[in-house]
Amino acid sequence: MSNTMRAALIGAGFISVRGHIPAYQQAKDVEIAAICDVNSDRVAKVAAEIGIPGAFTDYKDMLATVQPDLVSVCSPNALHCAMACDALEAGAHVICEKPMCLTSADAERMLAAAKAANRTLTVGHHMRYQPASVKAHDMIQAGALGEVYYVKASYLRRSGIPGYGSWFTNRDLAGGGAMMDIGCHMLDLSLWMMGHPKPVSVSASTYAKFGPLAKGLGTWGADHFGAGSRFDVDDLTTAFVRFENGSTLVIEASWATHGSQGQNLQIFGTEGGLELNANLFGAESPLHYFSEGADGLCDDDVPLGDVASRGHQALIPDWVDAIRAGRPPIIQPEHGALVVQIIEAAYKSAVVGAEVAL
Ligand SMILES: NC(=O)c1ccc[n+]([C@@H]2O[C@H](COP(=O)([O-])OP(=O)(O)OC[C@H]3O[C@@H](n4cnc5c(N)ncnc54)[C@H](O)[C@@H]3O)[C@@H](O)[C@H]2O)c1
Repeated sequence: MSNTMRAALIGAGFISVRGHIPAYQQAKDVEIAAICDVNSDRVAKVAAEIGIPGAFTDYKDMLATVQPDLVSVCSPNALHCAMACDALEAGAHVICEKPMCLTSADAERMLAAAKAANRTLTVGHHMRYQPASVKAHDMIQAGALGEVYYVKASYLRRSGIPGYGSWFTNRDLAGGGAMMDIGCHMLDLSLWMMGHPKPVSVSASTYAKFGPLAKGLGTWGADHFGAGSRFDVDDLTTAFVRFENGSTLVIEASWATHGSQGQNLQIFGTEGGLELNANLFGAESPLHYFSEGADGLCDDDVPLGDVASRGHQALIPDWVDAIRAGRPPIIQPEHGALVVQIIEAAYKSAVVGAEVAL
């Protein structure tokens, strides 16, 4: 009997072509059987260029016809929940792009669908697979930081509003702006480093100082529209999260700001601290360890070794391996749901102007 798994993709846009397809091509004993996009020209072009046998414009048709083992959900955020649930119910294991969905209620639906179908659901929080992230997590697990009690995380773009006027800047389709789109990556990374403590409250503010003026635009996103296009999401969000175990998290995400850009994670523990910051310490050594030894304060670059694979090229093969081995994926669906719960509370807090209890 063939051990080959057949994958199908929903959405033929940026992350599908740049992330999922190359990752499936590298995964062992996986073949890409089909791809679907409502944009018939786009899906035909991608299928022809990559040599994917099935090209569909209706994902339910694709699920019924192809009956794939693996499904990638690479569509606008608001569609994730329904598509992932349908794919799970059709018997496929599912990797859903981040953010997992827009609301906690939808996350619960997805968790229930995965459980009912006895299929593995994971989320595209690929930053966990970056070498510095893996090393930092290993060090925390080994006790190098002692008790982690505070994390400060930021993902700031100076001029990087994606797909202005496309689904990215439309609240109904994206669910939010900078925090939903890129803050979710740093939130996932932070929660993983902290050991996924239970959040008890969130206080946040959101801003839209660039998007409504069509300033701060980036090049990301398949569709671009002119000035006057819809922009009703945040281009900066800052949030403070308290956890049941007493630890706290400060997180900020921007698509556009007048300031330096970058991804920065500071993790503070009782015995040591870590800082992941590619901009500050250079690409060769983006991880720094702070501690105190017999001779006083220590401040060291952490060597990362020869770790070649990263991002989706590591995430997707690892998810496939988890399915085959019958173990949970590294990025468990409950982790994706926790990210959604905190973002949902952050947006609510910004609206009511007060801390929101969870
Ligand atoms: N993990 C990451 O770092 C990362 C990076 C980029 C995007 N993403 C996520 O991936 C998802 C897609 O983003 P993107 O940048 O590829 O967007 P995109 O706009 O480039 O592509 C989305 C595609 O979905 C298609 N689509 C829309 N409705 C559909 C439907 N009903 N059925 C089938 N196809 C449909 C669109 O036509 C488009 O081709 C988003 O959730 C985004 O947040 C993740």
